[in-house]
Amino acid sequence: MKYFIVTGSSRGIGEAISKKLLNTEHHLFCISRQSNSSLIAMANAENVALDSIEFDLNDVHRIDELMQTILRRIDESNIESIYLINNAAIVKPIEHIDQSDSNEIIRHMNINLIASMLLTSSFIKYTDHLNLDKRILNISSGLSFNLKPRLSCYSTSKAGIETFTKSIGVEQEDVKIMAVRPGAVDTQMYEESIITDEHVHKVKLANPSYAADRILTFLFDRFEHGKVVKGW
Ligand SMILES: NC(=O)c1ccc[n+]([C@@H]2O[C@H](COP(=O)([O-])OP(=O)(O)OC[C@H]3O[C@@H](n4cnc5c(N)ncnc54)[C@H](OP(=O)(O)O)[C@@H]3O)[C@@H](O)[C@H]2O)c1
Repeated sequence: MKYFIVTGSSRGIGEAISKKLLNTEHHLFCISRQSNSSLIAMANAENVALDSIEFDLNDVHRIDELMQTILRRIDESNIESIYLINNAAIVKPIEHIDQSDSNEIIRHMNINLIASMLLTSSFIKYTDHLNLDKRILNISSGLSFNLKPRLSCYSTSKAGIETFTKSIGVEQEDVKIMAVRPGAVDTQMYEESIITDEHVHKVKLANPSYAADRILTFLFDRFEHGKVVKGW
C-alpha cells in the first residue's frame, strides 16, 4: 500500500491531485478545513481508502498531534511508500504591508510556511523507523521570485518554502524532498490573486487536472531531492 497525505484537498489543485491518486493500492489522508464530498464519494465508489480530516492549518500547535494521529492509522505490515504533499495555501492579505492586518500576516505565514515546516518535521520524526520510500513534495509558486506590489506575504511564504526545501535536502538523506512551482491554474486562489487587468488578459491558465498530472509526474518519475523546479 502507498500512503499519501495531501493538504488542501477540498478544491483546486489539491482536489485534482487527490482525485488522480484514487487507486485501491493507495490510502489517502486528505486535510482541509472543509471536507470534499465529491472526492469522498469517488473514493467510496472506487473502494479506495480515504480519510478526510477537517483541520485548520492555522492551528499550528496541533500539527504534531495531527501527524501522529495520521501515522497511527497506517498498517506498517503493508506499506510500500509514504508521501506528504504540502499543497494548502492562501493568497491573502493582498495589500501593501503597512496596510495589512497583523493577524492576517501571521495567519498567512502559519498556513503557507509554518504548517508545512511542522508537517515535514513530524513526518520525518515519526516515520524514522520505517525503512521505505518517503517523499515530501512542496507546492511553491513563481511568485517566490517574481515580485509584485501587495503580494509580499505570498512571495515571502513561497520563497521560504523553497529555501526550506533546499535546506532539508542538504540535511536529510532518508526522507526525500522537493518543491514544484506550478504555472497559473484556474482555481479560486487564482481568481483571488488577480490584481491587474494585464494579469487577466495575458496569462494562459491551466486547468487543475493538467496541473495535477504535471505535479504527480515530479512526485513519481522526476523526483529530484532538494530541488525546486518549474512545473511547466
Ligand atoms: N492557482 C494557481 O495559479 C497557483 C499557481 C502557483 C502555485 N499555486 C499553489 O498551488 C497550491 C494550491 O492552490 P490552489 O490554486 O489550488 O488554491 P485554492 O483553490 O484556493 O485551494 C486551496 C486549498 O488550501 C486549503 N486551505 C486553505 N486554508 C487552509 C487552512 N487554514 N487549513 C487547511 N487547509 C487550508 C483549502 O481548503 P479549505 O478552504 O477547505 O480549508 C483548499 O483546499 C497552493 O500552494 C498555491 O500557492 C497555485
